[in-house]
Amino acid sequence: VREGLAGRPLVLVGLMGAGKSTVGRRLAARLGMPFRDADNEIEEAAGMTIPDIFEMYGEAHFRDGERRVIDRLLREGGIVLATGGGAFMDETTRAAVADLGVSVWLKADLETLMRRVRKRANRPLLQNPDPEGTMRTLMERRYPVYASADVVVESHDGAHEEVVEAVVAAL
Ligand code: S3P
Repeated sequence: VREGLAGRPLVLVGLMGAGKSTVGRRLAARLGMPFRDADNEIEEAAGMTIPDIFEMYGEAHFRDGERRVIDRLLREGGIVLATGGGAFMDETTRAAVADLGVSVWLKADLETLMRRVRKRANRPLLQNPDPEGTMRTLMERRYPVYASADVVVESHDGAHEEVVEAVVAAL
């Protein structure tokens, strides 16, 4: 594994549909590191799906669990970690990632994000009459924060292998 990484977790951040899970899985295989998906770990820990957590306990409760799960995963050392789109917005999580890991923002445009999330209906934040407007608002709010990641890579549709290589080259 690369020197820049030196056993630190590689943490993928970015909006829903940016390709964090898909690229993360391939990147892990490419680097010979284990892959973990924070959303899946949260669902396992809670014994319920993310939409159900949002519905039954609310977003704030989900964020508390997300913060704890990511903190635990960051302490596992050299893994590739896909985080949920909102995780890096949490100040405590950002500090923990800066301390323990290397962050990579997979940056994508609105069209790419919308095309990808249309395929999966399991995102509570987009279950409203104007998911595209929501996505635009999230881009405005979150991109300035994602921009503080250690590495920024453009993620375009149908080019996962290129994205993987761009991340590897940037490490
Ligand atoms: C969220 C993104 C989701 C999931 C939850 C909230 C967000 O993860 O954590 O629905 O706030 O952007 P993905 O980015 O993997 O879709």
